[in-house]
Amino acid sequence: MKKEPIGILLLLLLATPVLLAQTPTYTADIQPILAHHCAPCHHPGGLGPFSLLTYEDVAKRGKFIAKVTQIRYMPPFPADRQFQHYANERGLSEAEINTIQAWVQGGMVQGKEVRGKDNRVGAKGGAIQSERNARTPDLVLRMKPYNIKGDVQEDFRYFHVPMGLTQDIWVEAVEFVPGNRKLLHHSRLMIDSTGTMAGIDGISEEDPRLREFQKTPLADEFLYGWVPGNDRVTFPEGAAKRIRAGSDLILNIHYAPSAKADQDQSEVRLYFARKPVERVVKTLTLTENNVTNQPFQLPANTKPTFFMNYGPLRDTVRLLSVLPHMHRLGKSVRAFAITPDGDVINLIKIDAWDYNWQLSYFFQTPLVLPKGATIIAEASYDNTDQNPLNPNRPARTVGYGWNSTDEMMNLVFYYIK
Ligand code: HEC
Repeated sequence: MKKEPIGILLLLLLATPVLLAQTPTYTADIQPILAHHCAPCHHPGGLGPFSLLTYEDVAKRGKFIAKVTQIRYMPPFPADRQFQHYANERGLSEAEINTIQAWVQGGMVQGKEVRGKDNRVGAKGGAIQSERNARTPDLVLRMKPYNIKGDVQEDFRYFHVPMGLTQDIWVEAVEFVPGNRKLLHHSRLMIDSTGTMAGIDGISEEDPRLREFQKTPLADEFLYGWVPGNDRVTFPEGAAKRIRAGSDLILNIHYAPSAKADQDQSEVRLYFARKPVERVVKTLTLTENNVTNQPFQLPANTKPTFFMNYGPLRDTVRLLSVLPHMHRLGKSVRAFAITPDGDVINLIKIDAWDYNWQLSYFFQTPLVLPKGATIIAEASYDNTDQNPLNPNRPARTVGYGWNSTDEMMNLVFYYIK
């Protein structure tokens, strides 16, 4: 009984100076964190919905910022960085998250202004960046202008863009430039070499003809996938994608709902390899066909998990990137490879799948999967009425399909041999 007050006093004496010394200020502690991790998107005209460049911008949303950083919702990077590291990874350290918490709890002290007014940082794109980024494109392909209805509906469209190639090209970098940054949500670029897909131009995913086009085997089901923040992909030096003469570009674009009519004319920029190409960049797409617990069907009001198995690989491959793809019922996904010696190579783990942030994850260096290795994946889904993201009300049995009300389980890899 007697000891307690002294204990508390001691604690107070000890803790107070430490706490004071540790209370972070905006200028000294917070601004540098946000400049590095948030400003690339949260600046005027940037991807983020508001700017986070000044003390006022930040203090106004202090609690919100503390929340979204603590739950690791921001900066957006759904993959688990303990499981595997990526060249394009984003994320705050534990210490940075704690600093933001302490700053907000400590009353959001501004601190002495020491910086000049230009505290912008260069945009940090999602892909492998290099000085090669400075060049101008060799081929610019533009879709026909598309009129977005102001009907407050999501809109998934396909576009066919003739490439006019009379000879094969080798592409070492691909860039997608959205014509309408506000409404364009994401885009997938595919290549058709059959010359039979012109009719897909402008059709919606609701269009029954889509199922027919979907049967055509594409030359490249995944040339590139664009989401906000992924501005260009550049392959390692000496590696390039081959696009054959006579090919056409197919775009699959998702527009967010809009109350106002608007327009989009997006552009694809291709950069040809300048040096001799030593390695062909290929795409390996694991699909529902690789699912081992068939059929790929999600009965209404169930939470199924599907497993995938691919291999053993006939040759050694070097993986450049991995992109998991599911729709809105997706909850989590995990993939790894097992070598013939039984070693496990982690590829990707996403515990809270976010349909809105479907990034391509680039390994820090190409990841070698030796001959005989097997790729294993599992993905779980929530097709219940309780899932607020379920696009079907009430829940219905869902199978494979390109529609956002259908489901998919894809793992898309860029690789070289
Ligand atoms: C790659 C771009 C990008 C980066 C980097 C980024 N943000 Fe965002 N942020 C967005 C976009 C886009 C949205 C709006 C869509 C959403 O909420 O997911 C957003 C939304 C937010 C929101 C509102 C969330 C909500 O629920 O409405 C906050 C707060 C926020 N960001 C804070 C931050 C902070 C703090 C950082 C840095 C630690 C950061 N963001 C880094 C793109 C980014």
